[in-house]
Amino acid sequence: MASSSPYLVSSASEENSGGLLLSNNEILKNTKLSLHINSPLVESLALNQVINAGNTSGTPIRVWAKMDALQPSGSFKIRGVGLHCSRAVNEKGVKHLICSSGGNAGKSVAYAGRCLGVKTTIVLPSTIPLETRQKIQAEGADVLVHGAIWDEADVLARQIAEREGVDGYIHPFNHPDLWEGHSTLIDEVYQSVQSGHAEKPDVIICSVGGGGLLVGLVNGLHRVGWHDVPIVAVETHGAKSLAGCFQVGHHTKLDASEVTSICKTLATRAVCEEAWDCTKRHRIIPVQVSDLAAVEACLKFVDDERVLVEPACGASLAIIYQLNEELLKLNPKNILSIVCGGNNTSIKQLFEFQQSLKEKELTSLVTEIANLTTTATTKTSTETIPETTNITTTPILTTNITSITA
Ligand SMILES: Cc1ncc(COP(=O)(O)O)c(C=O)c1O
Repeated sequence: MASSSPYLVSSASEENSGGLLLSNNEILKNTKLSLHINSPLVESLALNQVINAGNTSGTPIRVWAKMDALQPSGSFKIRGVGLHCSRAVNEKGVKHLICSSGGNAGKSVAYAGRCLGVKTTIVLPSTIPLETRQKIQAEGADVLVHGAIWDEADVLARQIAEREGVDGYIHPFNHPDLWEGHSTLIDEVYQSVQSGHAEKPDVIICSVGGGGLLVGLVNGLHRVGWHDVPIVAVETHGAKSLAGCFQVGHHTKLDASEVTSICKTLATRAVCEEAWDCTKRHRIIPVQVSDLAAVEACLKFVDDERVLVEPACGASLAIIYQLNEELLKLNPKNILSIVCGGNNTSIKQLFEFQQSLKEKELTSLVTEIANLTTTATTKTSTETIPETTNITTTPILTTNITSITA
C-alpha cells in the first residue's frame, strides 16, 4: 500500500516538507504522501536573453521556469492526478483506476496506480504515438486505443468505469481534486518567493488543453493573494477550445473538424466550464501559436535548458521565443513559464514534425500565391488594378516564404 511503496516521492509530505508548502495548505491533509515532487524553479538565462531582444522597456526581464517536466510521470499532471487517485484509493477504496487521456494524464494515472498498488486502465485515441502507449504500459497499465480524439476515447473509458466502479474514473482535467493538486504549483512558487529564491511573477504563461492546469493556477494564485498576476493561456490554432469561448463570449465546444493540432494533449473540443468561469474572476489572456512554432520551441528549449518537452508545452515556450506582443505589452519584469513537460515526443519526432509542418506551410503558401495570381490575372483582364495593389502583395508573400524556408 501507499506507505510501503518504493515508488512514492514524498517531498511534500507533512513531516519532511521543511516548510516547502504553506502552513495553511489543506491540500495534502487527507493523503499521507503526495505523488508529485516540488519541482525546480530556475531562472533561465537563455530565455532571459531571448525575451530581452524584444524588450524596449529599459528594465531587464527575467524568465523563471517551473520545471514540471521533471515530475516522476514526466508532466505537471501528476499533481492533480496523484491527489485525485490517492483520494479515490485511500478514501473510497477504489481498486481499479480508469482514465481517458491524450497521453500525460494516462501516464500519471498509471504511475499513481503503480505507487498505490491498484490496477489501471488507460484509453488513448489512435493518434497517440506507439512510444507513449509503451511508456504507459511500462507503468503496469492496461492500454486501450479508441477513437481519433480524446473525446471519443473518453466515451469508452466511461463505459468501462460504469462496469468497474465509477469512483475509479479519473477525468484528465475536469475535477476539483485535479485543480487542487495543480494549485500546489503556485504554493511552491510562492514559497520560493517568500524565501528569496525567486521574484514574484508579473505574468504566468501556461498551456491550455481542457483547462485543468489553468483552473489550478488561478485557484492557487487566489489562495496566496496574488490576484493581480495575469495568465497568458496558450493554445495552438488547431486546439483553440478556450479561445473559441472568448470568440463567442460563452462556454462552447469546437467542432471535431476544428481540432487538428499535432499537440494531442491540448486537442480537446471544449475546456471544462470551470476554466471558462476562471476568465470571469481572473485576468486571462488567450494566445494561439502554430504547431510549427510549438515544435520549434521544443527544439530550441532542449538546446537552451537541456530538457525535452512535448509540443503541448512548447506552445507556451513559443510565445517567449516569438517575442509575443501580448506578453511584452504587459511590461513584465518577471515572467513565470510553466514548463509543463510531456511524454509524447522524442528529438527524432520533433525534427520530423518540423520538416512536415514546414512543407505543409510552404504548400499552402504556394496555393495562396497561385490563387492570388489567378485572381489578379482575372482582374487585369476585366478591370484596371491600381499599381499599389501589386506593390503591397509581393513583399508580404516574399517575407513569409523567407521565414519559412530559413
Ligand atoms: C504537457 C501538457 N501540457 C498542457 C496540458 C494541458 O492541460 P489541461 O488539460 O489541464 O489544460 C496537458 C494536458 O494533458 C499536457 O499534457
